Amino acid sequence: MQRTHRMTEVSPADIGREIVIKGWVHKKRNLGGLVFVDMRDRSGFLQVLFDPETVSTAVYERAQGLHNEYVVGIRGVLQKRGGAVNEQLETGAVELRATDLILYSVAETPPFHIEEGSHTKEDLRLKYRYLDLRRPDLQRILMMRSKVTHLVREFLYKEGFLEIETPVLTKSTPEGARDYLVPSRIDNGKFYALPQSPQLFKQLLMVSGFDRYLQITKCFRDEDLRADRQPEFTQIDMEMSFADVDDVIGVNERLLQYVFKEAVGYDVPLPIPRLTYAEAMRRFGSDKPDLRFGMELIDISKVVAEMDFGAFKDTVADGGSVRALVVSGQADMGRKKVDKLVSFVRDYGAKGLFYIQLKEEGVKASFAKFLTEAEMQQIIDTVGAKTGDMVLIIGDADGVVCNALGNLRVHLAKELDLITDTGYRFVWITDFPLFEFSEEENRYTAMHHPFTMVADADRANFDVQKADAKAKAYDIVLNGYELGGGSVRIHEADIQQRMFEALGFSATEAKERFGFLLEAFRYGVPPHAGLAYGLDRLVMLLTGTDNIRDVIAFPKTKDASCLMTNAPDIVDTKQLEELGITVNSEEEE
Ligand code: AMO
Repeated sequence: MQRTHRMTEVSPADIGREIVIKGWVHKKRNLGGLVFVDMRDRSGFLQVLFDPETVSTAVYERAQGLHNEYVVGIRGVLQKRGGAVNEQLETGAVELRATDLILYSVAETPPFHIEEGSHTKEDLRLKYRYLDLRRPDLQRILMMRSKVTHLVREFLYKEGFLEIETPVLTKSTPEGARDYLVPSRIDNGKFYALPQSPQLFKQLLMVSGFDRYLQITKCFRDEDLRADRQPEFTQIDMEMSFADVDDVIGVNERLLQYVFKEAVGYDVPLPIPRLTYAEAMRRFGSDKPDLRFGMELIDISKVVAEMDFGAFKDTVADGGSVRALVVSGQADMGRKKVDKLVSFVRDYGAKGLFYIQLKEEGVKASFAKFLTEAEMQQIIDTVGAKTGDMVLIIGDADGVVCNALGNLRVHLAKELDLITDTGYRFVWITDFPLFEFSEEENRYTAMHHPFTMVADADRANFDVQKADAKAKAYDIVLNGYELGGGSVRIHEADIQQRMFEALGFSATEAKERFGFLLEAFRYGVPPHAGLAYGLDRLVMLLTGTDNIRDVIAFPKTKDASCLMTNAPDIVDTKQLEELGITVNSEEEE
């Protein structure tokens, strides 16, 4: 019995033809002696009819014994559906009148119902992930993922990119998260690190002269997981020789336009707008601003600096800022809800949240008694609030204010359903700071990585005026997600040297960690630049899910474990002995 069609490959034009389908029994019903079976495969559904008048008794009895998730092959003749057309189904106008049935395998009752948009607890679904993956919605997502990788390759191959693999057992790479380590058996006490990205290798490929490199590859980062982060995730990674910022942006805009058009029929208008990091922080309090809605941050520092209210005045005097958000139509938000917003911003380090509610009956403000009516009106005028609105204000260190209000902006937009724009709002964030100050390490660290090129204007002073130095680094942001990021790289030995010094690496440390790259650069290196996308995030956005696990066939949970295989797991003592490792955990004892 050779399969002739997938379920949804049949059409009314095939009526009268004999066809063979193979797949899973989705549902079976007995109706007045007729047996109806909804068959399912990755393409969709087809209704099959077993009629005792037209099939042999043996086949009819076999059909009666079918249960959900049995795997079968069915031969039959396609006919117009006897009952009403099922508008919900792609094949709702036809049905297969069966003549033969082969049972390939029976199935136990699954631990949950295989259905579109399952409400079964995720832990159970992840334990039986292979069953969860039978759901049509997850199948559609993984088919989209396959399509996207195909489109990316197709486009970039045409642009002259070569796909080259880089090692998975390697040395620590410089992306700044914790490494996953793999112990060496041959050299006990030494470890490989799984790559956080192929960064150094792709740069070496430019040194080798491959000119344009592409790889769709797994990267590994041992970091705290969130809804858009997995410990192992996939990058679409690229690097280009003789390229500067605009070259990388140019190819990538056309790539995004191609992928969105072919994958979901969406026209990305080019050029994609650009915002500098400074402007994004100032207006949206975020370096990944969601541009589907307004509600921008408004700086009222200058206005309140003159007023006699310590919480504002002193903050500004101490070099901090006071900024506001106008939330339209929320003048009557109740006390409890406002309190929740206060605790929300506290989680982002803000000491407090002030509010003004412009109610019909008058202005109500949490700090009214500290200001004159005229001063209050001055704030209201500055932010442009009108009756019915609520103004939320934070005064603090500028970084805290932007971050807290930026997150509050997104939180409120979701909470109050303010995102009505159904489009894809792309934006490039450019001119990132070269360094960021790490309170933890009490020193400046590279904001992107230590190979990121200094902005032209800062070449002379970047290692002295670290706080102000800008980088030739860019992120591509979509609807509030950081989809990808990259930079122009340093290819000049003296700048690299100054960069390492600025980061506090001694010459020995730099040599130990990145010696091979520095050495390679002594043999002729082209100027180069690149970028990497998170493929998982790209597929999330294209399929409209906000859970990264939905776009990965076998994902990890929030604590980085796999509920299906039970990884990570203990290993044999013999394996540990070979690796020269003694495990020191209470659980082990
Ligand atoms: P970066 O660290 O910005 O850059 O990573 C590039 C993109 O990878 C995605 N990403 C992740 N996706 C899921 N889970 C994670 N844990 C995770 N971490 C990162 C994001 C991010 O934008 N080597 C540089 C690129 C370059 O400079 O060319 C790099 O790795 O979408």
